[in-house]
Formats: sequence, structure tokens, C-alpha cells
Amino acid sequence: MTNMNKQSFVDGLLSFIDASPTPFHAVANMSSILSDAGFTELDERDLWDINAGRYFVCRNGSSIVAFIVGKQPITETGVRMVGAHTDSPCLRLKPNPDLTTAGYLHLSVEVYGGVLLNPWFDRDLSLAGRVTIKTTEGIVNELIDFKSPIATIPSLAIHLNRGVNDGQKINPQTDIPPILMRAKKGITFDDLLTAELNKGRRRKISLLGHELSFYDTHAPALTGIEDEFIASARLDNLLSCYTGLVSLLDAGDQFTSVLVCNDHEEVGSASAEGAEGPFLGSVLSRILPDPESYYRTIANSFMISTDNAHGIHPNYAAKHDRNHGPLINDGPVIKINANQRYATNSETAGYFRELCRRAKVGCQAFTVRSDMACGSTIGPITAKEIGVRTIDVGVPTFAMHSIRELAGRDDAHALYKALLQFYKDKGTPGAL
Ligand code: CO
Repeated sequence: MTNMNKQSFVDGLLSFIDASPTPFHAVANMSSILSDAGFTELDERDLWDINAGRYFVCRNGSSIVAFIVGKQPITETGVRMVGAHTDSPCLRLKPNPDLTTAGYLHLSVEVYGGVLLNPWFDRDLSLAGRVTIKTTEGIVNELIDFKSPIATIPSLAIHLNRGVNDGQKINPQTDIPPILMRAKKGITFDDLLTAELNKGRRRKISLLGHELSFYDTHAPALTGIEDEFIASARLDNLLSCYTGLVSLLDAGDQFTSVLVCNDHEEVGSASAEGAEGPFLGSVLSRILPDPESYYRTIANSFMISTDNAHGIHPNYAAKHDRNHGPLINDGPVIKINANQRYATNSETAGYFRELCRRAKVGCQAFTVRSDMACGSTIGPITAKEIGVRTIDVGVPTFAMHSIRELAGRDDAHALYKALLQFYKDKGTPGAL
């Protein structure tokens, strides 16, 4: 079995996250890694002629399905699916963002998903995403990343806010517009963006629209006295996207294997490219156009939905159920919820535990405290849409949805080993 060593796996993970400030960049980076590995890009508008081989298809530039059509008969061996999501909570620029107050140009933002707002203050922020522009070729989408720090949300000094350490309420409309510059007469954000887009072009473009998000320019890093933690933005859920991707690259050509990475999980998944949309189902139906073969195959298929879990935080240990507090670097976590916020059941959990045992990695379990509400993932949504047996797993993390989250170096690599075991597992996955 090909097995990427921990050092090169973690180096690759950190550079992938650093180069992927938005879902658009994540999908572009995954596409180029897949193309380099011999995967053929398909266009949803074309007639597909699918044979055994390696393919990928993108939707909206922010969701991707990569798949290998294996040599083994698909109706008997099913489809091995791994799912993750490309989006992370962040601050999204509004269409007309300019605010001029007290001589400064600051920009109004929407809160995308469940952002932990406090850590966004006093960061060196940059801006990236997709623009829709008119060029001499017509209307096109392009990715943009300012890369360098261009804005900041300064805290209010403690002298002007004496009660701040007793709990700070943050008003997203008024407290967090990032400051771009001292205002200059006649200069708007659109002017600055258009100038940036025109850099190095002979023919000028005009800007038609943008989907831009702020992000922290602080690069991902290993931390802890023994370098055992990964500190980074977007670990939820680019860690799982990258882990699924390198597992698929090493999956071999025997079994039909899929990696789906959807946008919009953090806002409920209900979009054309989200997990509740028809994207994955349509790709599977085009691999299996005959309905009888489709239903037989789905009944033999298995989905591992990968998204981070909450590790027990030593300063807030009471926030966990005392028997279900996963530890960072003790291995992937099976996420269980009786109310189907996670898709796991005893059968899918049993199969994953067995995969971990065979991959020689640890395996933990998480349920939320019974007096607290449980989060969710693309797992139950995909299970509902496709009807496939599904498990929810993920690596334990701290500070989920912060601008800087924390995960375990060993866990990311352990998840890779477990997913690789799954993709290479002989016969029908999880068959009883
Ligand atoms: Co997530």
C-alpha cells in the first residue's frame, strides 16, 4: 500500500490550506493536483463517455467531485465515497461595501456561517475570492488573491471599554468592518479592485461582480513544544478535503472511488453545489445510467463524511460529556447523534473501527452533552439525498470556526491512513 509519510503529508496539508483562502481557490488547487495525477476534467455540459479511469468535475468553481472508475464490477463492489466541505466561516465583502467614517474607508461585510468573531480583531487581513469581469473575450470568472495584508479590524482599547474582559458583545454590522485606508476623495473600493485586476493587462477589464472574503495572512504552522499541533485557519474543513484528496490519489484502480467536496456546508448545504443539491447524485447517475444498476450499486456503497470534531478542551472540560471527550492525536473520531445530526449508526461505526484497526490508527467517539445542541455535517444530508450508508468522522480540534483553529499533526495523518484503507478495502465496503 502506498503510504505517504507523516512529514510530507503534513507539509502538503499546510501548503494546501495556505494556498486556499476561499472555496474557489481550494477547488482550483484540488483540480490542478488531480490533473497532475492524470485525472481528466469533465464538463457537466458535455456528453460523458465514462470508462475505467480517473476523472473530476467542478460545479460553480467551489464544489468538486473526483472519481476513479475501477476495474472491479461496480454493482458488486459498490462505490467508496469520502465527503468533505470546501467552505469555512468568514467575513464576506458586501456588493457595495464602502463606508467612510471619521476620515477612514472601511468595508461592510456579511458574516458567512457561524464565525467566532472575537479572534478576527487585530489580524493582518487579506482579501480573496472570485470576480466576474468583462474582458475582450466576453464575461468570465477569475480568481483573485491580494495575498498581502490590506486591512485590519482593530480592537477598541481597553481604556475605552473597561468591561471587555467580562464578555464582549459584537455587532457584526457596526463593529467589524475592516479598515482599508484613510479615505481619499473619489477613491472607492471598486476602483482599487479594478486597478488590481488590470495589473499586467493590455486591455482593461470592467468589473461586474465579486464574491470576496477576508482571511488571515498568518501562515499555518506547527505548534506545541513538540510540534504536535497544527494551527491554521480553515482546518474545518480543508484538512478533510486535502486528506480525502491524497487518499484518492493513492487509492489505486481496482474499486470505484469518489471524493466529493461541497461548498455551502457552513450555511446549511441548500444550493446547487451544496450537499443538499443534486451535484453528487447527478455524477453518480452519469457513471451508472441504468437505474437497476444504480440502485444495486448504491445499496453496496459506503460514504465516509469527514469533518472536524470537538476535542475536549482542558480549560473547559465540563463542556464535554465525560465519556466522550476526544483527545488530540489519539486518532479520528466517530461522531454519533441519536437525533441524526450525524449519520453514524452501529453498523457504519463498526466498519470504520475495523478500518482503523487494520490501518493501525486509534479511533475515538464523540457525542455532545445531552443538555447542549449538536452540530451537523454533510453526512446526514448526503445520506438522505443518495440513500447511501454513511458515517460521520473527523479529527478532534480546538477553536472550531475561529480564524485560527488547532488540530493534531498525528490525527490528520491517521485519518489519511484510515481513508486509504477504506479506498483499498476488498469486496463490498462494510458488507455484513
Ligand atoms: Co465543518
